[in-house]
Amino acid sequence: MPVNDDKTAMHTLRDISELRHTLREHRLRGQRIALVPTMGNLHAGHLALVARARQSADVVVASLFVNPMQFGPGEDLDAYPRTFEADQTQLTEAGCDILFSPTVSALYPNGLDAQTLVHVPEMGEGLCGGSRPGHFDGVSTVVSMLFNLVQPDVAFFGQKDYQQLAVIRKMVSDLHLPIEIIGVPIVRAEDGLALSSRNGYLSQQERAVAPALYQTLCSLRDALEHGESVEQVLHRGHTALYDAGFTPDYLELRDTMLGPVTPSTRHAVLLAAAHLGPARLIDNLSVQLPAATNASHQR
Ligand code: PAF
Repeated sequence: MPVNDDKTAMHTLRDISELRHTLREHRLRGQRIALVPTMGNLHAGHLALVARARQSADVVVASLFVNPMQFGPGEDLDAYPRTFEADQTQLTEAGCDILFSPTVSALYPNGLDAQTLVHVPEMGEGLCGGSRPGHFDGVSTVVSMLFNLVQPDVAFFGQKDYQQLAVIRKMVSDLHLPIEIIGVPIVRAEDGLALSSRNGYLSQQERAVAPALYQTLCSLRDALEHGESVEQVLHRGHTALYDAGFTPDYLELRDTMLGPVTPSTRHAVLLAAAHLGPARLIDNLSVQLPAATNASHQR
């Protein structure tokens, strides 16, 4: 039975002890708790996470915290959109029960430099971890704090941040955390652009170009599924992204655990990050590679 079935009773909590006290009561009643961690500026992608959480738990907790630890020097921490009241309204309407939105000093009372870090080796290296050093340490540290504070039975993350999801799954497995992690499919605009808070940085012209990232991935996926060599396809993809006006950060084909693709790999994922104006956009698509042929041997 959802706690917030009248969609009016969402509690916004900023205080750690209040959160713990409130959740203890729910736990004592044997209720299943879901967590949806966010940095706010919510869009339909976040609301899909809340909807999935709503279906699978008695109590839905969303967190809203723009985590300074996961932004590198010169990144968009200050510019990151903060839309607290609109977020509160959307979460209430989505049937969220508790919004936890702590201050930076509540989560990091000793400052960022003195903070104990959670580092997930290997999974966080390369791809976004390669171009954003320290980013995944910031993510895994704050997510493990949120897991400790909320102690959810289940937590929901978007598949758009494919590497983030893989890092969190590994962290949960390595630390034996009793939390089920659910990845929720990417929500796209009608023209295919993956929804992201950072899409708001795009000018009208850039927004018109942005779907080319998804379109390029779709055409590369089709070529790979027809057995074209990975090298050729990725080369063509880089060129297509430059031609459309992007500066690609990476474009890679990996197996679903983010390991290298080998001739025996069938299930793979095509991952891209590319700069467009002030925004760095990421996206990914799953790819079913054909059984080894001459072409796929070139992998
Ligand atoms: O995906 C995000 O919004 C953030 O990386 C997360 C998981 C909320 C951690 O700050």
